[in-house]
Amino acid sequence: AAVYPFYGEHQAGITTPAQDRLHFAAFDVAADLDRAGLIELLHDWTAAAARMTQGRPAGKYGPASGPLDVPPDDTGEALDLPPGGLTLTFGFGPTLFTTADGKDRFGLASKRPEALVDLPHFPGDALIDQLTGGDLCVQACSEDPQVAVHAIRNLSRIAFGRASIRWSQLGFGRTSSTSRSQVTPRNLFGFKDGTANIKSEDTAVVEDQVWAAAKDGAGWMAGGSYLVARKIRMVIETWDRQQLGEQERIVGRDKGEGAPLSGGTEFTEPNFLALAKSGGGTAIDPDSHVRLAHPTSNNGAQLLRRGYNFVDGNDDLGRLNAGLFFIAFQRDPRAQFIPIQTRLAKNDLMNEYLRHVGSAVFAVPPGAREGSYIGAGLFA
Ligand code: HEM
Repeated sequence: AAVYPFYGEHQAGITTPAQDRLHFAAFDVAADLDRAGLIELLHDWTAAAARMTQGRPAGKYGPASGPLDVPPDDTGEALDLPPGGLTLTFGFGPTLFTTADGKDRFGLASKRPEALVDLPHFPGDALIDQLTGGDLCVQACSEDPQVAVHAIRNLSRIAFGRASIRWSQLGFGRTSSTSRSQVTPRNLFGFKDGTANIKSEDTAVVEDQVWAAAKDGAGWMAGGSYLVARKIRMVIETWDRQQLGEQERIVGRDKGEGAPLSGGTEFTEPNFLALAKSGGGTAIDPDSHVRLAHPTSNNGAQLLRRGYNFVDGNDDLGRLNAGLFFIAFQRDPRAQFIPIQTRLAKNDLMNEYLRHVGSAVFAVPPGAREGSYIGAGLFA
């Protein structure tokens, strides 16, 4: 089973081949935490993350070997489990820099990257405050759900009194591939998802579209990225009553192979010129998801998508509370997520089956050097 290094130029969990399971948590820092306390928390999280990602317990004693008169420094449920490629990716929300009422709690306001904008309200947004925002985030991905949950639980335990979970999300069944070595998985609409995603092998595209650079403005973010998370409910009961041809028209690809409706196989580039030739079954609808999300409709902008399916039980009508927990990494949300989502929110045929209920954006700093801590550049 894979073990990924924790320290390095970039944080793991971005171009890392998408693992199958997610536990994502957004945290709010405590009202009385000061700058020194925030730095200490990031130190403690870094140390624990460096250990857990290597398959070791969160603390030096572990769950069952420490002093008997204090609580264990690891909760224990991952004790005999391999890490399953565990990655822990940390991010800083806009409210860490400037609170909603304009306060600069940690002396960081001048360090806020211009690219870390508050996301605008998109047409159709039905955001729930308790599923939105957050001062800090941790994305835990692993092949083993228990390992991912263990990591978030222990980071939350370590943060006790300093930061607490604002919202969190479990995900299963990665809905993207981030490497050509992976087969394309499917989302809960039953379609392949991740076909046209940025892949780690496309190094020039990754440099251009995923990693922030010093010349972008915030020097401390060089080698980092920006994470947009959207909790998107999918009205699957209605979708499931839609005919196959209509489902394919909405997506712009066929359901079996994932090939563009303009023809070819899964990785054939869609031919949107076929749009003009109306009639025949080979045209891609101009309002299909793939057409509107494609770089040719968005000034060349791309995203590294890394989302997961979710089912959070059901509602009292017996409908599954299901959807896609969308995660995308990018160099600048102002040029990437925001224009793409603006276009989708206005015209995407898929909107009839979607409801965006949660939203957040985070600046994901570069990786930490061994001996240092995540986000150190922000406090330099
Ligand atoms: C492509 C599904 C939300 C951006 C696709 C594809 C599917 C899909 C089936 C085609 C396969 C592929 O290339 O991956 C969904 C579902 C969504 C959703 C079910 C919501 C529940 C979003 C959102 C965005 C987005 C919110 C960004 C704002 C993209 C992009 C592509 C894509 C950029 C690739 C287009 C291309 O270059 O051909 N999506 N998507 N999607 N989606 Fe989504």
